[in-house]
Amino acid sequence: MIQIAVLGYGTVGSGVVEVINKNQNEVSKKAGIGIAVKYILDLRDFPGDPMEKHVVHDYDIILNDPEVKIICETMGGVEPAYTFSKKALLAGKSVCTSNKELVANHGPELIQIAKEHNCNYLFEASVGGGIPIIRPLNASLTPEKIDGITGILNGTTNYMLTKMDDEGMDYAEVLAQAQAKGYAERNPEADVEGYDACRKIAILSSLVYGKTVRYEDIYTEGITKISKEDFKYAKAMKRSIKLLAMSKDMDGKCFAMVAPFLIRSDNPLYCVKDVFNAVCVHGNMLGSTMYYGRGAGKLPTASAVVSDIIDCAKHQGKFIFCFWDQEKVELSSKDEMSWKFFVRVKGDLEESGVKEVFGETEIIQLPECADEFAFITDEVSEKEFDEMIKGVKNVITRIRLEG
Ligand code: HSE
Repeated sequence: MIQIAVLGYGTVGSGVVEVINKNQNEVSKKAGIGIAVKYILDLRDFPGDPMEKHVVHDYDIILNDPEVKIICETMGGVEPAYTFSKKALLAGKSVCTSNKELVANHGPELIQIAKEHNCNYLFEASVGGGIPIIRPLNASLTPEKIDGITGILNGTTNYMLTKMDDEGMDYAEVLAQAQAKGYAERNPEADVEGYDACRKIAILSSLVYGKTVRYEDIYTEGITKISKEDFKYAKAMKRSIKLLAMSKDMDGKCFAMVAPFLIRSDNPLYCVKDVFNAVCVHGNMLGSTMYYGRGAGKLPTASAVVSDIIDCAKHQGKFIFCFWDQEKVELSSKDEMSWKFFVRVKGDLEESGVKEVFGETEIIQLPECADEFAFITDEVSEKEFDEMIKGVKNVITRIRLEG
């Protein structure tokens, strides 16, 4: 029997206990040994909870107990999760986490400590919730030179954009609904501004390059400026709007970005609706693969954490190779990235300056949006677009086109 401790008995932490208890047979069969939760660390007590007697408030009890071999960190945030994880690894205890913020900030350092102490720092649940994506990158796609990852990595914003698309709701209305349903936090900034997706694509990109892609270096735009009118145009173009997190290696130049994109109906990400996530990975030998499933939620995320616990149990005293050094990847400026842009303009086409700057372009006029029009540019670089758009009067918004 292996004893584990769970740090943080919130949604994911209690889910981990539930998965281990409910799927005891599967877990012990696949780990080759039984797994039992000895401690739960939390500031709170949980009177009446079946795990009540396992709750402790002092981390040192866990750290100093030689029976505890694996620690499951489901606290979230950088501190004290970082200090607790580091201490565990230095003591030779493996750590499994769902904490994308900590992984994006300190992942390579914690992996290195795990390596030096013959244990593991695993983080399958930090990206895509229950979707297996870290393990495929680390263990299955190893012969590939991966040149592109494009994903819908945030469930909350995907739910909101789906509602706007399917039901014609506006941003404020759908945000209130997402908050009421418990998908969006009261302070929704991390989701709607794209910061959450940014940390996740930074983690995936780092695993692809084997070096650190800093999330601070990734150009990030959220969905706060997307309106129901944008979706009316999207429908007319047979497209949808999705918040994409992408990372590309173009002939040795590395690019990464998070932004809303108008995607075509034949793009596999078009069908990813509600709180679901999906990640498309392109390798130079295999071509495209796609990973799809529940990107958030108690049991899906907990299931991914338990998959790591099983891996740690199977590899006691042995480091599972993870290719992620602290050396930094220099990302190329987004100015060099090229695509078509969709632009909405208030007023009259003839007086807008569009023809003078962009020439003959595709114009879209919708009867229900009478005092404006939209146009689609040819493929131009971000830098060229930023210069050219200065010559157009009364621009309402612009959205990039994928494909
Ligand atoms: N807020 C995140 C999301 C939770 O909506 O995807 C999972 O990381």
